[in-house]
Amino acid sequence: MTAEFPIEAVRAKFPALERAKPFVYFDNAAGAQLPQNVLDAVARHLLDINVQRGGRYEKSREVDRMIATAREKVAVWLNAGDPSEIAFGMNATSFIRLVSIAIGQTIEPGRNEFVITDLDHDANVATWLALKRAGAAFVWWKMRDDGKLYIEDLLPLLSHKTRLVTCTAVSHALGSLVDVAAVARASHSVGAEMFLDCVHYGPHALIDVQAWDCDYLVCSGYKAFAPHMGFLWGKRSRLLALPTFREEFIPDEPPYKIEAGTFIFENVSGMSAAIDYFEALGRDLGPQSAKQMPRDHIVTAMSAIRSYEQTLSRGLLDILARAGATVYGVHDRTRVAERVPTVCFNLGDKHPAEVVELMAQADIGIRDGHMYAPRLMGRLGLAMDRGAVRVSLVHYNTLDEIDRFGHALRKIAGAA
Ligand SMILES: Cc1ncc(COP(=O)(O)O)c(C=O)c1O
Repeated sequence: MTAEFPIEAVRAKFPALERAKPFVYFDNAAGAQLPQNVLDAVARHLLDINVQRGGRYEKSREVDRMIATAREKVAVWLNAGDPSEIAFGMNATSFIRLVSIAIGQTIEPGRNEFVITDLDHDANVATWLALKRAGAAFVWWKMRDDGKLYIEDLLPLLSHKTRLVTCTAVSHALGSLVDVAAVARASHSVGAEMFLDCVHYGPHALIDVQAWDCDYLVCSGYKAFAPHMGFLWGKRSRLLALPTFREEFIPDEPPYKIEAGTFIFENVSGMSAAIDYFEALGRDLGPQSAKQMPRDHIVTAMSAIRSYEQTLSRGLLDILARAGATVYGVHDRTRVAERVPTVCFNLGDKHPAEVVELMAQADIGIRDGHMYAPRLMGRLGLAMDRGAVRVSLVHYNTLDEIDRFGHALRKIAGAA
């Protein structure tokens, strides 16, 4: 499959990769690079239509149209039922907090349990724990020792008391995928809602909110080849019922009731262009038929990305095994379908910060620390002030870069 993936053409679309050479971007989970068409969209917005929306002059109307188009594109990307189900804003954390505060106002004593996981980023844990004063009780869905969440472990935790189940679609630290459609089914079977953190999943695989049947989902643009921004999707009926803060003159309907204040328009324009990028990639790779719709191209693109990333995962796991690293989570190369190429590891008793410093000297950007996941660190037996080393790849990375990383790693391990 590697041979079929147009890696050189893909890389040529991301100018930052060439400009940074010989630097290797292996810290993509903290933010990915942008294709040229996204850079162009942001620049064009700032140059030509950098005005407030809702005015009676043409430039302002163009901003209105840009926002409407961005909603339509995100709706196609997610397979949402309606563009009004998408709200734009600052980042994922603020949207999780917004939804949790709203849901916190609706907690009833007989249905007050929130299921949270010890695999998640703390943005999707602490935000819910903050509802304790509102009467929420918490039930922990724990990952197993292989770094995965199993639906069989969730089922006994659910009851008529469950108000909401929240989890990630894939671990931003260990890279393990979650069967989110099964989580939604199980949640609904007891009358609970299901909230999905899709921040780390967005750049790696196909999102389908209708097939998954979740109730809410958050994403961050900056992980998915767009600028710094975030968005919330929710089923229209759920968003209509959500008691959010809004000024009196703001319509009491989605998306407006979710979008207090002005968001960063140029970055929304960049998000829209990032979806054009996925669509163009799918158009280049898929059947050249006039019957193909934008969503079909996105399906093609994400399937090619997913397949190529499994090749990267295998390469990365092989290199880590050869260097004698301890990999947390799924580390068997035959199980790469269960993960994305985001890997946390440690190298003997070397301090993770030292490993990352030495990698930086070799012009390879990776990350160390607790990955904003204190419960996960606890489960892995890792101290918060040390944590682990994380390497996070996306589809513009290459096997050659993995080889360079492997060479540097073996040197750091003292094995080369
Ligand atoms: C899985 C996951 N959830 C939530 C967040 C927080 O996202 P944001 O920075 O957009 O608030 C991150 C950020 O790294 C993440 O990886």
